[in-house]
Amino acid sequence: TKSDDVLKFDVVIVGTGVAGLYTTINLDRSLKIALITKESIQISNTTLAQGGIAAPLSQDDSPDIHYMDTIKAGAGLCDTHMVRILVDEAIENINILLKMNIPFDLDDEGEIVLGQEGAHSRRRIVHASGDATGRIISEHLGLKLKSYNNVTVFENTFLVDILTDDDKAIGVVLKRKDKNLIIFARYIVLASGGYGYLYKYTTNPEVTTGDGCAAALRCGTKLVDMELVQFHPTVLYHEKNKSFLISEAVRGEGGILYNINNERFMPMYHPQAELAPRDIVSRSIYFEMKRTNSHNVFLDITHLNSQFIKKRFPNIYKTCLELGLDITKERIPVAPAQHYSMGGVLADEFGKTTVENLFVCGEAAGTRVHGANRLASNSLLEGLVFGRRIAEYINSRNIGEVKEKDVHYFSKDSEEFKGDVISEIEILRSKMSEFAGIVRNNEGLENLISYILDKLSTLSKVKLQTPKQIEYYNMLLIGYTVVSAALMRKESRGSHYREDFPYQDDVNWKKHLVFSLNGWEV
Ligand code: SIN
Repeated sequence: TKSDDVLKFDVVIVGTGVAGLYTTINLDRSLKIALITKESIQISNTTLAQGGIAAPLSQDDSPDIHYMDTIKAGAGLCDTHMVRILVDEAIENINILLKMNIPFDLDDEGEIVLGQEGAHSRRRIVHASGDATGRIISEHLGLKLKSYNNVTVFENTFLVDILTDDDKAIGVVLKRKDKNLIIFARYIVLASGGYGYLYKYTTNPEVTTGDGCAAALRCGTKLVDMELVQFHPTVLYHEKNKSFLISEAVRGEGGILYNINNERFMPMYHPQAELAPRDIVSRSIYFEMKRTNSHNVFLDITHLNSQFIKKRFPNIYKTCLELGLDITKERIPVAPAQHYSMGGVLADEFGKTTVENLFVCGEAAGTRVHGANRLASNSLLEGLVFGRRIAEYINSRNIGEVKEKDVHYFSKDSEEFKGDVISEIEILRSKMSEFAGIVRNNEGLENLISYILDKLSTLSKVKLQTPKQIEYYNMLLIGYTVVSAALMRKESRGSHYREDFPYQDDVNWKKHLVFSLNGWEV
């Protein structure tokens, strides 16, 4: 409408985690780019990432071994073609980051120090400042972009929807400081992250409400693997903090898990014990907590040298100490919490979605590289590898003309939403954690889906004005896809565990569930 601000760019990128920043950096400097972020550049899952980036750099490693580990952890659902690309292009992207002077941790000889994490058969985790890898990457890439005069950053800007014309994406509808902003662009890249905040207990920041996936769905793309939600085994369980990640690298360096009765339990569940695939460790902790009627287990590294702990895990050490917990002397209370969304917008090897000119990258993308359970530290890697591929694809195209059309986007003439959106969101998050969490069953999922459908039907009749209200709607929509896929998948595989169908069923379910506005394609 005439009252909205309207701008034109060659490319719009939504999201400033590693996927958004790295895609932007790899695009031609001649392109005029709008970089959109819901809060500020540094607020992302990337910034919180501790472990690092997986890359087969050691003498005894190879892309083939990295490939095998990824496929094995993925419980039969990885897309082999996409995984091949992921592992084959890992080292070249680490080298690009090194050239950009990202200060990865090096040994005295100047070689990259490689960490160990669960289900990796080799040490292959590249890290920075010990356990602050994501923050270092995001700060460096963010700083680099400041000198790019072809990039305009829009902070505190909320993605409402994606505009299409003739089934092609042509722009985005945004809200910025109570004003509506429309940006038309030749290409749109969604790098807006996952949907972790749908869960009450999560390591993700509040911004992860699945807005990108919801907007993509509404504009005609397909979502895939939505039921596949990863729970990290070891998240701090402290009265003042139940979302701080205790990196898998802590177990990689020898951390041992004990239940509240002081019994080490992981060897009973899996031969790789504390370093079993993440879904297995999370579930084992869940069962131990149930068995011992407790809210947490303990992660113990007090047997390690205290100087080593402070150097290798400075961020975890400091954060716990601020809460009164000295991890060199005391065991860390931990419990599993939501950590990563394997599902997302269906994407091919160039990040292309099924809607022309719309690309997707990083956690928002359904690249199927992680299968039913992501291998640790493959997520930053995914953002790098596919971000660069998207940028190179766009760089190779003729940019052409940016299309515009008359948009009457905000003119919906209906009643305003009157509910208390904050408490409604909290109810939804509690229900998701309880019924669509680590262990699921038909009854819980059925109840949850009725609840979600009821709320969705109310919300679809009213005018949603504030970003919070739209977030709530997006959470319900994405929650619907998660829960209905979880109901449909009558087996247990990777991170999806149904107590009423506890076995993996390759005959019927070795397949991806794909959702579009036309419903499920199975
Ligand atoms: C961690 O440090 O445990 C997180 C690594 C990851 O999620 O890939």
